[in-house]
Amino acid sequence: MTGSAYPTRVVIRKTQQDATEFVADLVQDIICQSVSSTGACRIALAGGTTPHGLYKQLARPERSSKTPWRDVEVFFGDERNVPHDHVESNFHSAQRALLDHVPISPGRVCPMPADCDDLDSAAQRYEQLIRDTIPADPNGTPQFDLILLGMGGDGHTASLFPLTDALGETKRLIVSHMVPILGRNRMTFTFPLINAARNVVSLVTGTDKAEAISVIMSADEKARAALPFSMIRPSGGEFCLVMDESASRLIDNI
Ligand code: 6PG
Repeated sequence: MTGSAYPTRVVIRKTQQDATEFVADLVQDIICQSVSSTGACRIALAGGTTPHGLYKQLARPERSSKTPWRDVEVFFGDERNVPHDHVESNFHSAQRALLDHVPISPGRVCPMPADCDDLDSAAQRYEQLIRDTIPADPNGTPQFDLILLGMGGDGHTASLFPLTDALGETKRLIVSHMVPILGRNRMTFTFPLINAARNVVSLVTGTDKAEAISVIMSADEKARAALPFSMIRPSGGEFCLVMDESASRLIDNI
């Protein structure tokens, strides 16, 4: 495998189902280890469609019965500018596929307030909630035990899209911005928050991601730098990228 030191771990499985089950096992392990060592696990869920199968896996009784969901705090890595009961809401998707089916305390699920009129104030409120809830790392940045992230075909992750100012944010942990390519407002984690995590896990599947993955896994640092996904670099944590063969089919020399 060529490219920089990130991801720190790359896993390729034959099918989307195999890759999804691998990530479900990994997420379960991280939650169990975190709860057994600190009594809690703070996670941020990914949006989009790829994680739907993962959330349904985690909701299965044979898994949820072995996962200490009562000690888990759930946040969201990004959200669309829609109400929480809207079909496009990342919260709505996770609620239907997972959160309604596991014994998590409702007060420990913190959806992003991305449907407010004043999105910047809402982003600041969500950032303050994270600062008040999540223990900080030695630099004072809230340190999630696990952040799940997807990747778009253009190499975006969360709602950090190519050529947007949010990519260069170094102070704010949560921002809201108009994403030109979508023509829509989004609220999102920024890289200072993402890269403070103990564990970042990304599930990327499907042929539509193969081109971006081939760049991410290449040694062409200039091309990689154009893809926001390449900026996931948890300085004190692990970054595990899990793919199926469709998404990894264009990677050289694997
Ligand atoms: C979102 C996500 C976004 C997603 C990618 C991949 O709100 O859409 O946070 O970053 O992970 O766009 O989306 P798919 O999983 O649907 O391909």
